Amino acid sequence: MNLLVTGGAGFIGSCFIRTLIQKRPHFKIINVDKLTYAGNLDNLSSVEHLPQYYFIKADICDFKKVENIIQEHEPEAVIHFAAESHVDRSIEDSANFIQTNVMGTHVLLELARKYDLKRYVQVSTDEVYGALEREIGYFTEDTPLAPNSPYAASKASADLLCRSYFKTYKLPLLITRCSNNYGPYQYPEKLIPLFILRALQNKPLPLYGDGLYVRDWIHVEDHCLALLKVLEEGKEGEIYNVGARCEKKNIDIAHHILDILKKPKTLLQSVTDRLGHDRRYAIDPSKIEKELNWKPTFHIDDELPHLIEWYQGNERWWKKVNNKKS
Ligand SMILES: NC(=O)c1ccc[n+]([C@@H]2O[C@H](COP(=O)([O-])OP(=O)(O)OC[C@H]3O[C@@H](n4cnc5c(N)ncnc54)[C@H](O)[C@@H]3O)[C@@H](O)[C@H]2O)c1
Repeated sequence: MNLLVTGGAGFIGSCFIRTLIQKRPHFKIINVDKLTYAGNLDNLSSVEHLPQYYFIKADICDFKKVENIIQEHEPEAVIHFAAESHVDRSIEDSANFIQTNVMGTHVLLELARKYDLKRYVQVSTDEVYGALEREIGYFTEDTPLAPNSPYAASKASADLLCRSYFKTYKLPLLITRCSNNYGPYQYPEKLIPLFILRALQNKPLPLYGDGLYVRDWIHVEDHCLALLKVLEEGKEGEIYNVGARCEKKNIDIAHHILDILKKPKTLLQSVTDRLGHDRRYAIDPSKIEKELNWKPTFHIDDELPHLIEWYQGNERWWKKVNNKKS
C-alpha cells in the first residue's frame, strides 16, 4: 500500500510509522507534517534513511500543496493524525484547533474524494463523547457526541464532517476513537511525561483540583496496532472505539511514578483546576475486539517502570524538546 500519513512527526503518528516499517516493510509511507511545536523529526530518526519513507513539510490546510503531494506520490489511502492535540492550549486559544482540526480535515476529505482514495482513516478521540459520571458507564460507539473542551469540539466537528462524506459521497472512510495514550516520545506537556520529567528533576508535579479525574490509559503501540487493523480490515463507514480497559485516577498515576522513582509525595502540588474539566473517560472496546480481533497487550501498571527508564535513557531527546519549548 502507498499510504499518506498526516501528523507523522507527532507522538502517535511517529509510533504508527515505526510500527508500519516493522510490520509492513513493503508499504510506501508519505509523512506530511507541518512541524508545529509538537512535531519532532527526532521521533523518526530510526527510519528516516529508509527508501520507502518520505517526509514532506506541509500544512494540511494548504489545499494546493497537499494536492501536489497527492499528484506526485499517488497514495491509495490516508491516515489522518495531524491535529492540535492539547486541551489546555485549546482553552487558552482555540483558533488553531478549528483551523487544523476542522478545516484541515475538510481539505483532506475533499482531496480524498477528488483523487478517489481507496481508504480514509480519521484518528479521533474519546473526548468527543464528553464526560462520564465518576464511577458508572462506558463510552460505546453509540454514545452521543457531547464535547466539552474546544479541542474535543473541534475533533467532534471533524468526525461529523467525515460522517457526512461517507453518507453523501460514499467516501471509504473509517473513524477511530481512542482513549488517553502513553509511551515513548510523548510531548512533555501531557500528564504522564510531564509527571515523569518533573519527578526526575525533583520539581513539583502539578495536579489539577482534587486529582480524582479518571482517564482510561492505553499504550501507544497498542493504539497503533489497532489503527493498522482498522486500516486493513475495518468496515467502511464504521466507528471503532479503542481502549485498554485501564482506568486510573490522575493522583494514582502520580503516586505510582513517585513510588517507582522513590521520590517523596511532597512533590505533589495541587494547582487550579482546568476549566470544564471532564471527570471520567472510559472506553468500551468490545466492538474492535470482537469484529477485528484486536486486543491490547500492555497494562499501564507494568509499563510505567519501563517508560520511566525510557525517559531516563533518552535525556537528550527530552532536554532538546524542553529547550525548544522555553
Ligand atoms: N494523545 C492522545 O492520547 C490521543 C488519544 C486519542 C486520539 N488522539 C488523536 O491522535 C492524533 C495524534 O495525536 P498526538 O498525541 O500524536 O498529537 P501530537 O500533538 O503529538 O502530534 C500532532 C502532529 O500533527 C502535526 N500538525 C499539527 N498541525 C498540523 C497541520 N496544520 N498540518 C500538518 N501537520 C500538523 C504536528 O506537527 C505534530 O507532528 C490527533 O488527531 C489526536 O486528536 C490522541
